Amino acid sequence: MKISIIGAGYVGLVSGICLADKGNQVVCVDVDRGKVDKINKGEAPIHEDGLGALLTKHVGKNFRASADLHEAVLQTELTMIAVGTPFDGRDIDLGYIRQASQDIGEALAEKPDYHVVVVKSTVVPGTTEGVVRETLERASGKSAGDDFGLGMNPEFLTEGVAIRDFMNPDRIVLGGIDERTLDALRAVYAGFESTPILETNPSTAELIKYTSNALLATMISFSNEIAGLAAKVGGIDTSEVMHAVHLSEYLSLDVDGHRKKAKITSFLNPGCGFGGSCLPKDTKALAAQGESLGAPMRLLEQVIEVNLGQPQKMLELLRQFLPDLEGKTVGVLGLAFKEGTDDMRESPAVPIVEALASCGARVVVFDPVAMPAAQPLLPDDTTYAEDLASVIGTADALLLVTRWDEFLELPSLMRELGREDVPLVDGRRFIDKHAIRNYSGIGL
Ligand code: UDX
Ligand code: UDX
Repeated sequence: MKISIIGAGYVGLVSGICLADKGNQVVCVDVDRGKVDKINKGEAPIHEDGLGALLTKHVGKNFRASADLHEAVLQTELTMIAVGTPFDGRDIDLGYIRQASQDIGEALAEKPDYHVVVVKSTVVPGTTEGVVRETLERASGKSAGDDFGLGMNPEFLTEGVAIRDFMNPDRIVLGGIDERTLDALRAVYAGFESTPILETNPSTAELIKYTSNALLATMISFSNEIAGLAAKVGGIDTSEVMHAVHLSEYLSLDVDGHRKKAKITSFLNPGCGFGGSCLPKDTKALAAQGESLGAPMRLLEQVIEVNLGQPQKMLELLRQFLPDLEGKTVGVLGLAFKEGTDDMRESPAVPIVEALASCGARVVVFDPVAMPAAQPLLPDDTTYAEDLASVIGTADALLLVTRWDEFLELPSLMRELGREDVPLVDGRRFIDKHAIRNYSGIGL
């Protein structure tokens, strides 16, 4: 099928290149010309495993990027909207969705053939059949259902392994206003026969996405609330508590005589908080929608609240070792919101570094890939280290924020450098607590 995708961010670009790999003819449209040029040279604009190789394989053949939305819509049969849907502080910001719908609608006004428009961006329930439909109909002078199809197809991509997730999905959700739209969506996903496919209406598809993310966020904040209590009681390691909880038959299965934990248990662990492009903004957007519709989401509101408090917990733990941070050098290990990505959106590293700096500490940071992306977000006097060893060499204390594999060398590297007394506050409970002399961590 000939497919256009509006927005070449991590969702749009990954979806586009994967659909090209499945044999479709794909054009990704973006307003950012720099990004368009880069993609057309076969260069990946983001750090995503396998993306470079797929670009090399398909650019100039059945995949290209373009800044011309109008032409892209006219030359394709189906358009996916994958622009960002940030949280504006009060509600979901649908500005980019409106703009994309308006532009697509104007192109549809000139297109005699039937076309299908599919929302892939995460939008609050009711958006596709509300704002998107109205904008498309007004701009095109046409009618959804008669002249064009309208659907919603949420993504379930984990950053860092988004290509793997797209190619081996756990589920595919197709929301359509009618059979004809669903037929087009079935054709797009024809290459995924072994995956459970759920067909439904657009609003249900929208809520499926939010419910999935809200559940993960709830698991994390629940674990962090337990960790907060355990720390006050003393003598309890929340990691041990959670490990035992994971082994319940509800959360793990016996496979060939071994206990195999369900993947959800990786969200039932204490830590310095969730971040990224999805969980923070999606929980806030859903809670705001609940509030505005008179269905307040008290639980979700607290999930957000608990998460906001986690960065401060790191500083409280640090003060056990350094009661006064003024003039002290603190090393922050990891900046990305999680390993495997250079995405800094809503990373807990940002409030942590800011809080350290406001206490008068000299902050030295190190992240194997996210330092360029972090620079605009961190205080100006932050020092960027060249490697892990140089942080260990200068810091009075270390805070671990991201689970990068290379940080597992920390205990041996600290010994080698004669720095085994430097305290470590482990925000991810990533390092063996017995391997570091002055160890502390969330939930301990
Ligand atoms: C996506 C989804 O769209 C979002 O709803 C979901 O919850 C998370 O992932 P993401 O791909 O991460 O967002 O967004 P981003 O990296 O910001 O990419 C959006 C792209 O769209 C950018 O490259 C931007 O330049 C482009 N864009 C934005 C347009 O081309 N046109 C616009 O009008 C707005
Ligand atoms: C998430 C969902 O997993 C994915 O299915 C959805 O489509 C988009 O949102 P992503 O944001 O890429 O994906 O990252 P994920 O690996 O889920 O991590 C989310 C955040 O939770 C990260 O900041 C991570 O560090 C944090 N996290 C994860 C914890 O704080 N504790 C945990 O136990 C697990």
